[in-house]
Amino acid sequence: MEKEQLNGLNAIELKGINKSFGSVVANKNIDLTVRKGEILALLGENGSGKTTLMNMLSGIYRPDSGSVFVYGQEVHIYTPQDALNLGIGMIHQHYKLVDNLSAAENIVLGTKTKKQSMSQLAKNIEQLSLHFGLNIDPNKKIYDMSVSEKQTVEIVKVLYRGAKILVLDEPTAVLTPQESKKLFAIITKMKEEGNSIIIITHKLNEVMEVSDRVSVLRKGECVATVETKKSSAEQLTELMVGRAVDLSIERPETFKSDPVLEIVRLGVRNDEGVEMLKDVNFDLRSGEILGVAGVAGSGQKELCEALAGLQKVEKGAILYYKENIVGRTPDEIIRLGISMSFVPEDRLGMGLVASMGMTDNMLLKTYKQSRGGFVKRSPARLKAKALIERLDIITPGTETPVSKLSGGNVQKVLLGREIESQPNVLITAYPVRGLDINSAYTIYDLLNEQKMKGVAILFIGEDLDVLLELCDRIMVLYDGQVQDILQADQVTKEQIGLLMTGQKPRELKEVR
Ligand SMILES: Nc1ncnc2c1ncn2[C@@H]1O[C@H](COP(=O)(O)OP(=O)(O)O)[C@@H](O)[C@H]1O
Ligand SMILES: [Mg+2]
Repeated sequence: MEKEQLNGLNAIELKGINKSFGSVVANKNIDLTVRKGEILALLGENGSGKTTLMNMLSGIYRPDSGSVFVYGQEVHIYTPQDALNLGIGMIHQHYKLVDNLSAAENIVLGTKTKKQSMSQLAKNIEQLSLHFGLNIDPNKKIYDMSVSEKQTVEIVKVLYRGAKILVLDEPTAVLTPQESKKLFAIITKMKEEGNSIIIITHKLNEVMEVSDRVSVLRKGECVATVETKKSSAEQLTELMVGRAVDLSIERPETFKSDPVLEIVRLGVRNDEGVEMLKDVNFDLRSGEILGVAGVAGSGQKELCEALAGLQKVEKGAILYYKENIVGRTPDEIIRLGISMSFVPEDRLGMGLVASMGMTDNMLLKTYKQSRGGFVKRSPARLKAKALIERLDIITPGTETPVSKLSGGNVQKVLLGREIESQPNVLITAYPVRGLDINSAYTIYDLLNEQKMKGVAILFIGEDLDVLLELCDRIMVLYDGQVQDILQADQVTKEQIGLLMTGQKPRELKEVR
């Protein structure tokens, strides 16, 4: 179709789309429009049907009924190739790249350009990258790439195949704020060139920043489409959840005791001998939430693992009630009352046994704590039941394998289990990664409840707004070092952002 003819048309029109999986109605009579040259945000709680709807655009699923129009013409999309032929490319939540191939090889995989020389191909990719301000090395293998680099390869892959309509399913869930900014620059440029973008994200500030319009799904139905400029975070949340939600995060006052943990001159090297933590000093008191900010890879993982006994400590001490626990095994550390939950970037492999149900996963922890021996199942089952109730975990039952649960629900199980073990110190890294707003607030409440009980909490976070509201103090890590530790109510997002990139903002009050 000629470009001129497309003017004034919608890129995508969905009319009366229905889709069920057995008895689950995932999409119910959905109408949705995406204009040419716009960014449409698709909002909705976990399980509201966003991915299903987009999978019907990208040829993964077929609708049970309803019609799809692309640039004004009715189409039937049966396969991902059909979608690409229509100019629709989707970036999925879990990347679909081949690990041991290079970026360039992945980009041409399954296309007819295979026979083309790799050097010409690399040149084309470079041109495309340059045009959109993307940064990829065509020869780098996928297994050597960060999550953000992998995502860039996925984007180049669909652009290379001529996508004019780009669907991004929670692309920023695993990106740092800086990486997200870069992604937004790319899609804004695409939009300015007349392309259309649908972006799924749970982060309302991103919706407000990047989208032109927002469509909101609730329980499989499209409940509203609004212009971003004319809406607000509060309105969107209300549409999503179906009732008014208070979006402020509490920071309750507590009695803060002497330090429970004191980290003294901690030094850690990784397997390759690279210094990952250098001379790290801080303390953690009961009844406080100490937030940790930093760009990805600043030493967060190594810090958590060192505290949990999973990482060899090269230098320094970890004092727990004045006793050095460096050299203790992970099991011994758990038994002392230090609990850690870490949600990795891919959100998989988080310390739960996927094939087991909640009860057995609860037992796994108890079993460790009781030094073996006979363990009763019924108390664990009761605990699992209580957790399901308390955290609104959606699962058929306590014995359903956790692999069958959605990502958000798995995360609730993970943190819930740690809390059930009644630790003195709770270390939690990225607990709300990929969670919808309502679930995220449940987790914040849970952390505050623990804080009020006197638990000392180390919260490794990504969202600076959340860190600033929830935490008592914020420690900024940069390149394995503590840049600063600040009182959360006396610092701005900008100041933290500067510290995260190794700069020293002026006018900072030292509080440590
Ligand atoms: N392949 C599938 N088989 C069975 N149920 C599914 C399948 N895919 C999605 N669902 C169900 O459909 C509903 C919508 O899911 P989904 O589209 O993934 O939601 P979202 O992307 O908004 O989190 C959920 O109840 C989910 O469990
Ligand atoms: Mg989804």
